[in-house]
Amino acid sequence: MKLITTITALVFLASIQTMAQKTLADATKGKFLLGVAVNSQQVDGVNPIETELIAKEFSAIVPENCMKPQPIHPEENKYVWDSADKFVAFGEKNKQVVTGHCLIWHSQIGKWFFIDADGKDVSPEVLKERMHQHILTVVGRYKGRIKGWDVVNEAFEDNGTYRNSKFYQILGKDFIKYAFQFAHEADPNVELYYNDYNVETPAKCDAIVQLVKELKAAGCRIDAVGSQAHWHMNSPTVDATETSIKKLKDAGVKVLFTELDISILPSPYDGANVAANFKYSKEMDPYKEGVPDSIQQKWNKRMLDMFGLFLKYNDVVDRVTLWGLTDNTTWLNNFPIRGRKDYPVLFDRNNQRKPVVDEMIKMAKKSK
Ligand code: G3I
Repeated sequence: MKLITTITALVFLASIQTMAQKTLADATKGKFLLGVAVNSQQVDGVNPIETELIAKEFSAIVPENCMKPQPIHPEENKYVWDSADKFVAFGEKNKQVVTGHCLIWHSQIGKWFFIDADGKDVSPEVLKERMHQHILTVVGRYKGRIKGWDVVNEAFEDNGTYRNSKFYQILGKDFIKYAFQFAHEADPNVELYYNDYNVETPAKCDAIVQLVKELKAAGCRIDAVGSQAHWHMNSPTVDATETSIKKLKDAGVKVLFTELDISILPSPYDGANVAANFKYSKEMDPYKEGVPDSIQQKWNKRMLDMFGLFLKYNDVVDRVTLWGLTDNTTWLNNFPIRGRKDYPVLFDRNNQRKPVVDEMIKMAKKSK
């Protein structure tokens, strides 16, 4: 009798434990945060199902757009706080870890940042002070409420050279150091990240490792490098991804996968450079009516192979964030080709969890 009672109790406890890990965020607890990029309509509850899913299924959130330089600071003497304030409050209400994205980026930034009253490039001193004011004001406003900031986004080309942005043209590579110094000045306790895409490309990874070393040597705080992880069916390889994780770990920073999506569509190029754009064709949009199971299985394997890496290196991987909640809301339906149907994230167009998520939960439960 006693044995039956014990077995019943064990089965009951196991079922509680399984139920307790009913979400991927539950299953990765203690390994890494499971995040999602959130848009303003989701914060505002325009589609309550999406809002509910975000609150229930994820342990971290990042703003897809509302905290970027242009939306939050459209003119030198004008800040627009409404969406960003609501975003941070949304995360706090749902007891989620909030990341800020992004302070300094060559894209989605007001032209005013770089020009004087005559439309000419400002001096290095003026640009540096404008960066200083922007960062002190934005980081300062959310001091103590945000775990970390994407301080600088996408400063390198894939070949490891510096992107020839207006920041670089006017200030040289030191604009990055200044940004990290200003962010630390604004909130000494907030984590600071460098964020980029194609971090798995060896030349780019080496340049980022060199940047980490230079920032540390200059006494700057840098906690992690964000690998955006806008991946495709065949690139990057698992090996290249593992090599990049090891290089960053050796450089003494944590690794975040900050914008994970895996496009199932043919790609006119590998990357996430928002400036690129290509013509629509049916060949480039083959799954309008749905994804054949054989292709879906290949995508599932791709996601599971990469998720296995995150688990293998969970000592250094602190967060994995999906860049979009569902296949309906992903930016990839219109990038790099407008009007396509992509299937790159973990929830489908009916807001349903894809079967691969249950496989990921099982993997996470089994991992050390
Ligand atoms: O909010 C305006 C709206 O008022 C206006 O009517 C509309 C039409 O012009 O544009 C809206 O802004 C758009 C914004 O998304 C919000 O929807 C911008 O035009 C559009 O360019 C912007 O695209 C975002 C893109 O970054 C550029 O900022 C994508 O949603 C976002 O997913 C994408 O995310 C970036 C990361 O921040 C950095 N890493 C690469 C990643 C993909 O490009």
